[in-house]
Amino acid sequence: VTDQIERVAVVGAGYMGGGIAQVFAMAGLDVVIVDAQPSLTRRHLDRLCREAEDFETQGLFDPGSADLVRANLRVADSLPEAVAEADLIEEAVLEQPEVKGPVLKSIEEAARPDAIIGSNTSTLPIGELAANLTHAERFLGVHFSNPAPFIPGVELIAHASTDEAAVLSVEALVARTGKLAARVNDKAGFVLNRLQYILLKEAINLVEEGVATAEDIDIVVRTTFGYRLPFFGPFAIADMAGLDVYQACFRTFEEHYGERLAAPDMLTDLVDHGHHGVKQGGGFVIPAGDQASLIAYRNTAYAKLGQLLRELGPAPLGPPAHRPPSSTLH
Ligand SMILES: NC(=O)c1ccc[n+]([C@@H]2O[C@H](COP(=O)([O-])OP(=O)(O)OC[C@H]3O[C@@H](n4cnc5c(N)ncnc54)[C@H](O)[C@@H]3O)[C@@H](O)[C@H]2O)c1
Repeated sequence: VTDQIERVAVVGAGYMGGGIAQVFAMAGLDVVIVDAQPSLTRRHLDRLCREAEDFETQGLFDPGSADLVRANLRVADSLPEAVAEADLIEEAVLEQPEVKGPVLKSIEEAARPDAIIGSNTSTLPIGELAANLTHAERFLGVHFSNPAPFIPGVELIAHASTDEAAVLSVEALVARTGKLAARVNDKAGFVLNRLQYILLKEAINLVEEGVATAEDIDIVVRTTFGYRLPFFGPFAIADMAGLDVYQACFRTFEEHYGERLAAPDMLTDLVDHGHHGVKQGGGFVIPAGDQASLIAYRNTAYAKLGQLLRELGPAPLGPPAHRPPSSTLH
């Protein structure tokens, strides 16, 4: 596979494909988009150029971004024309295997033999999508998040026979866009959506059990643990709180919710071996040691986030929408 990605084709130029195309164009790559019909593709191109101008005017894109998008983004009138020259083809059509399958087949038929093929699928196992390809070793998940121009993380998902060289090429490309890639193994939903959907599911459980309304749950999430998440993931948060504390809390959870919320072995093993987090013995991801600089960073981060939120004001959510019927709240 190619090791230097300079030309990218994005197939499906909707929300995600369009944003991904902007990201690559702003990083200086030559980008071709194609959608289901030529007229649609052109409309997407106009939208993406206009949007880039607006974002630049609003100070959300760097100066010069709109020019880069205009100069580097082109349309093709057919899928074969779009992908013929590309080093990387990113598929971003609808999240349906019966739509993605034929599109991936057509991509492979028209692509250069050394081109890398990525899919932006949110949840579909990459190994299953790979069954549509003859040379699946050049295929991987390259999962951007919405809105792609602003969300910095990208999941890279190799399936069982993805060539390591393809992953390395895409990793280098992601770094060039200024985004941060994380490697994730091929299980449905990967990391982002498994965690996000479990959070939503448990939040819905809480509403159904009458513990809190959807509105109040949203308040708790964004003003408490969600407030930490731009800076620290769940492992770092646990390390900072203390793994022994987490173990004790899991005991309560197990008592009330059973095995589903029992302390995981990985946590128990760490605590049993004296790893209580940052304060003693180190934790999942943070070693033990002087906490002063970490605490100073944490305090600055939260205080600045508070300033930003006050500056922005509350999100314009509108009036409460679908309050659960009061019968579900006891
Ligand atoms: N929306 C999100 O928040 C989000 C986030 C991450 C990943 N994704 C994933 O990205 C993919 C695209 O999602 P989206 O939200 O951009 O959807 P979307 O509906 O906005 O865009 C899909 C585009 O694909 C086009 N398309 C359909 N069939 C096509 C074909 N045969 N050839 C070329 N183009 C075709 C459609 O016309 C449309 O413009 C999905 O796999 C989705 O799961 C979505």
